[in-house]
Amino acid sequence: MQNIVILAIESSCDDTSAAVLRNGILLSNVTASQKVHEEYGGVVPELASRAHQQNIVPVVDTALRRAGVDRSELSAIAFTRGPGLLGSLLVGTSFAKGLAISLNIPLIDVNHLQGHIMAHFVSEGKQDEHHPSFPFLCLLVSGGNSQIVLVRSHNDMQIIGQTIDDAAGEAFDKCAKVMGLPYPGGPLIDKLAKEGNPQAFTFAKPNIPQYDYSFSGLKTSFLYFLRDKLQEDPHFIDNNKADLCASLQQTIIDILMRKLIKAAKDLKINQVAVAGGVSANSGLRQAFRNLEAKYGWQVFIPPFAYTTDNAAMIAQAGYYKYLDGEFCGVDAVPFARTTI
Ligand code: KG4
Repeated sequence: MQNIVILAIESSCDDTSAAVLRNGILLSNVTASQKVHEEYGGVVPELASRAHQQNIVPVVDTALRRAGVDRSELSAIAFTRGPGLLGSLLVGTSFAKGLAISLNIPLIDVNHLQGHIMAHFVSEGKQDEHHPSFPFLCLLVSGGNSQIVLVRSHNDMQIIGQTIDDAAGEAFDKCAKVMGLPYPGGPLIDKLAKEGNPQAFTFAKPNIPQYDYSFSGLKTSFLYFLRDKLQEDPHFIDNNKADLCASLQQTIIDILMRKLIKAAKDLKINQVAVAGGVSANSGLRQAFRNLEAKYGWQVFIPPFAYTTDNAAMIAQAGYYKYLDGEFCGVDAVPFARTTI
């Protein structure tokens, strides 16, 4: 049997991550998050690049050590080529190239968004794991993207709907900022929403054709709503934080689910998955579980560790590309923007 050992590196935004995979089974996944951005209320690209530069050597060393794998055993190095912050991507890309050249092994470039979808195939070698079969629909929701992807195979994916303005994660983060919550606001809204009434307030829902999304109207409606309420009561936000978070979260979930359900019904697909940072949201996870009960669909929700940026998903995507013999040259350059 072939012994395929892949080291993967993810550095597209503010997480430096490395993972090791042997014959499709994940052996280690190590991530260093960057706290430096918190005080700025968002990711500062220049600071992210510098932090990646500091983190990458210890993160890769730790991933190899935890996997019990020596560098000489590696078959290939997979890396996130884009989309993401260019300076951040350059750190991971250059490191991957240097190591691949020194070990004389091939390089595999991975699209970050495809990586998020491949998170559903990450295997820890346990008995009770279940993975989607093809075709399935994946709702890909992160800080930078909101898409419905038709996944026909590991390497054949089509975006059938996407946001025409803000992403779902941006809607969470920007509305949180308006309420004076620290960055990133998504996880905090999720936490506060648990104590609130999701029906307390009503916010605008967009009317966009087919399977596309829009979140900028919701953000504006939320802003004007708060402005009016604060004129009547300067403590309105503090007095209603949980209800505001619960109602906002419910609105975002309703917007996301309505289009996904429409797409699944239209295409007669009964397997639906969710991926990306926003898939950590407990309300969204519950909305997915409800689909199982309501429609009998098979639903796939990734473990928390593989929802936000991580190298395990890049290793998994890289593994399939290795099997297909899809490698890239050492002249591969990162890209900031792309679709799938
Ligand atoms: O995929 P991801 O880690 O990377 C980027 O695309 O940047 O997604 C980050 C996004 C942020 O907008 C963050 O607020 C959101 O995911 N997020 C959440 C939750 N956890 C992370 N949004 C809502 N509820 C959560 N529990």
